[in-house]
Amino acid sequence: MVNPDAPASMTEEPTKSDIQHFWKTVYRTAYTEHDSGLTRDALLEAIDQLEDMFNFREHMATVEMDLSALAGLSVLEVGSGAGGHSAMFARHGAQMTSCDLTDVRAAETQRKFDLLGSMVEGCNAMQADAENLPFADNAFDIVYSNGVLHHTNDTDQAIAEVYRVLKPGGRVVIMLYCKNSFDYWFNFWFCRGLLCGAMFRSRNWLGHASEWIGSSEQKAVNPITRCYTGGEIRRMFTKFDKLAFRKSEFYFYLIPKLGRLYRRWQIKHYGTHPGGSIVYGEPWPIWSPLEHWLGKRLGWAWYISAEKKI
Ligand SMILES: C[S@@+](CC[C@H](N)C(=O)[O-])C[C@H]1O[C@@H](n2cnc3c(N)ncnc32)[C@H](O)[C@@H]1O
Repeated sequence: MVNPDAPASMTEEPTKSDIQHFWKTVYRTAYTEHDSGLTRDALLEAIDQLEDMFNFREHMATVEMDLSALAGLSVLEVGSGAGGHSAMFARHGAQMTSCDLTDVRAAETQRKFDLLGSMVEGCNAMQADAENLPFADNAFDIVYSNGVLHHTNDTDQAIAEVYRVLKPGGRVVIMLYCKNSFDYWFNFWFCRGLLCGAMFRSRNWLGHASEWIGSSEQKAVNPITRCYTGGEIRRMFTKFDKLAFRKSEFYFYLIPKLGRLYRRWQIKHYGTHPGGSIVYGEPWPIWSPLEHWLGKRLGWAWYISAEKKI
């Protein structure tokens, strides 16, 4: 059940504290159990599993990010969440600076660095807003951000900040949601938006329809979710050089109602991957080969890479 007192109604513009409230609630619901018992050894194993899962999924964290070339590079992760991606890059020798708007998430990222100890010396996490990054111009070799900038009020301003803090010739690797996708048009727009009437009740119907994870009851509403066409991505990254983007991530389980049945069958048939635990708080149901194939054509994620002009 969606909280009727939640912000982002037809008239309100969500505030930063609405955004923090949602992501804090997701963190507490989905991750606390997994993260609270984490030891150094368990974290190292979880990072290996995460890398294995990303390799299988051809995720941008192991494709657009060349892990073998990260050692010594200064990498900023914007919206590090619970810190799984940052910990993986740090383990490969990146000098990580990680930030997140939500304090508990920045703190959990820092705790993962602390657990890794001298192996990741110099890596730091802090609370910061993507739209107003507290870093000098031309500071980082790489800026990485997975599924974050479409949840903030001013995505163009956040991309301008990413450009500013990147060194000339530096690289961005960013995931934003894709409008030209099955998930958007069928699951969200048609089923939840039109058939269930969500789009007539709230300007933020896409936020209502997406982002809750775990099996417990939904206790907060996601204030902002946006998605973009390929043309919009080209416009948003126009200042950058060598722009490339591809689609990925297709999920039958997001089909309302039927998706739950599919997910049960999928887990029985293909199993789960333990690499999901550190980033979703639970093992990741393995894609069928069909979903993998469809992801490249109709997926819900754009994996974007580009360089700052020299
Ligand atoms: C879907 S989660 C992604 C977390 C992580 N990147 C991952 O892939 O696991 C979105 C994250 O974006 C963060 N976020 C939202 N708006 C932000 C902003 N303006 N600046 C920094 N982080 C933000 C939230 O706190 C949340 O941790």
